[in-house]
Parts: sequence; C-alpha cells; structure tokens
Amino acid sequence: MNREAQLEAIFGAFRGTEGPLLPILHEVQHTFGCVDPAAEATIAHELNLSRAEVHGVVSFYHDFSATSDPRPCIELCRAEACQARGVEALVPAAEQAAGTRVKLKTVYCLGLCSVGPAARVGERVHARLDSAALIKLVHSV
Ligand code: FES
Repeated sequence: MNREAQLEAIFGAFRGTEGPLLPILHEVQHTFGCVDPAAEATIAHELNLSRAEVHGVVSFYHDFSATSDPRPCIELCRAEACQARGVEALVPAAEQAAGTRVKLKTVYCLGLCSVGPAARVGERVHARLDSAALIKLVHSV
C-alpha cells in the first residue's frame, strides 16, 4: 500500500468521529515514524484546517516528530515521581550506553509512578529500573 493509500485508510478510520486530529496524528506518527510537512498538509486538507493549526498541534506535543528516526527508541520517564525515585542518577550511564545507536527519549509519566523509574520500548513498559537494568535494556534494543 502506498503512502497516499495508507493516509486515506487512516482518514477513513476516523471519518465522522469527533475530534479526529489527535487520533489521526498518532496513527500517522505510528505508521510513518513521523508527521512530516507533507503529511501535515494532507491532514489539514482532509480536516479542513489550516496548515498552521495542524503544525501547531504537531509541534506542541512531544509524541510527534517532523522527521523519522530509524534508531530504536527507549522512552524514559523523567517526571516528578520517577525523579523522586532516582531516575536522574540513571541518565548519564544510560546516555553513554545508548550512544548514537539508541534514541533515549524523555517522556513525562508512563502511569507507573509508584514503581518507577519507568521506561517504555514500543508497547512494553519496564518498571523499577536501576542503572544495571536500564543499561541492559539499552543493549537489548
Ligand atoms: S512519573 Fe514516571 S511513570 Fe509517572
């Protein structure tokens, strides 16, 4: 299925639903790895919005990126509860282990506050991370 057909399938899945912009953006991000300017324009046209409106949403939320990044990604929570449970002490070694091969992305809350520090790789979450566990996770992706 080519890009246009994939976009049309995404639009079709949300046609007629209320507030379709965010679900469409999430699906486009998931499908293509980014919401690039061409996708923004197509989405704006489909939803009868301005490019500026769509771009404003894309650039506001950290979930969306304008360019795709083929590296494996670990989303590491650095919100307050995980900070209180020591995530900041884990970051330098994790960044060193990740190097340029793995993208270590900061996110704010994965809903695992009581069992942090927490991270997510794809759909899988990892809790109670210590330095060794996080470095092991970096090497496993
Ligand atoms: S603050 Fe880290 S999972 Fe909620």
